Amino acid sequence: ATGAITIDPGYKNSGSCKSEITFLDGEEGILRYRGYAIEELADKADFLEVSYLIIFGELPTKQQLEQFENDIRKYTLVNEEMKNIIDGFPKTAHPMGVLSSLTSALTAFNPKVVNVENEKEMYEAICKTMGKFLVIATWTYRKMMGYPLNYYDNTKGYVENFMRLMFELPTGPYATNKTVINALDKLFILHADHEQNCSTSTVRIVGSSHAGLFASISAGVSALWGPLHGGANQAVLEMLEQIQKDGGDAQKALARAKDKDDPFRLMGFGHRVYKNFDPRAKIIKKAADEVLAELGVNDPILNIAKQLEEAALVDPYFVDRKLYPNVDFYSGIIYRALGIPTDMFTVLFAIGRLPGWIAQWKEMRVNKEPIGRPRQVYTGYPLRSFVEMDKR
Ligand code: SDX
Repeated sequence: ATGAITIDPGYKNSGSCKSEITFLDGEEGILRYRGYAIEELADKADFLEVSYLIIFGELPTKQQLEQFENDIRKYTLVNEEMKNIIDGFPKTAHPMGVLSSLTSALTAFNPKVVNVENEKEMYEAICKTMGKFLVIATWTYRKMMGYPLNYYDNTKGYVENFMRLMFELPTGPYATNKTVINALDKLFILHADHEQNCSTSTVRIVGSSHAGLFASISAGVSALWGPLHGGANQAVLEMLEQIQKDGGDAQKALARAKDKDDPFRLMGFGHRVYKNFDPRAKIIKKAADEVLAELGVNDPILNIAKQLEEAALVDPYFVDRKLYPNVDFYSGIIYRALGIPTDMFTVLFAIGRLPGWIAQWKEMRVNKEPIGRPRQVYTGYPLRSFVEMDKR
């Protein structure tokens, strides 16, 4: 992991890419952002600090971090006309669909396509994206609830603003405390980047055509929405609630997950790369215990999740296939304890993943990588002659 890496010369067109941002080892369950272990970052840093590290490559000094936060604050006001767009959605619209649309619409109000050669312009686009995305992400919740839209408070921190933007009603203070803010901060750090996952690869390939940063992030939001990817955190809670309704029998759920004729999968289990424990899942499981204890929440769903995990970890079907809990298995339990509706869970994943998407887009553009063009293996017909209509 520390030695020089040899790159297949064909990498430029092979659909794979080289990157200096995130290292993960699926067999060993290792995840590092710019060389720093996720366990240390989750324990010692805050989300904006880690965002700076992921995007610019180094841990910021105190002055750099303050400057970054102040520069983001310059762009937290979202154009009022964006409200006409959100007003056009029904309240029943899924927040991820609204978020993807609003993110793309930001291009209409910020038409300057990012000129990556100009560091000042690139930095401004990054701060603009970090500022405005958080606001419009919380607007999707306010829209769903029929509440008035809130504005970023430049006197408060980034993650505290998330709670305020979500829950502060004109009629009164918003619910928050330090444990909640710290737990969310940690969750956003744990979601911040993850190498070439489905949504990040989408951001890179859309950006490789030199589409703008907002358009590329919007595409990443759509990819993340899928239940096999970021949408899994919502699917986990819906699965656990169904298991609870069916009597809370973990073995019955495992039996269904193993039945090839049953489309039911154990959501939050398994991973394309981790064939060992997802290091993020371990940290989130511990945070779930802490947050629920602090809030005095005794959620039977957490107990069902733990029973499922314990049963699966000794079940040959899961052990043989190296299926372990992933980042999505416990995160929704914390969100639910904070009163966040399941439809919003993947939006929180997107808020956490934003710095990773930005960093990967920036790396791809600064490295002047060619337009993405994955190869295919053709398995269709050999050449054949046209058949006239009356002979078909
Ligand atoms: C994320 O890539 C990333 O880094 C993503 C992510 C990130 O940070 O960006 O980590 C975030 O997306 C996490 C994954 C969230 N998705 C889920 O929790 C959905 C449930 N998991 C599965 O759908 C599945 O495990 C995937 C999609 C995550 C991974 O699929 P793979 O690696 O393609 O595994 P597979 O489909 O080839 O399955 C291998 C075997 C199959 O059985 P056999 O055909 O060998 O008999 O394992 C079985 C599968 O049926 N299997 C499961 C299962 N996952 C795999 N069986 C039951 N329940 C499951 N969850």
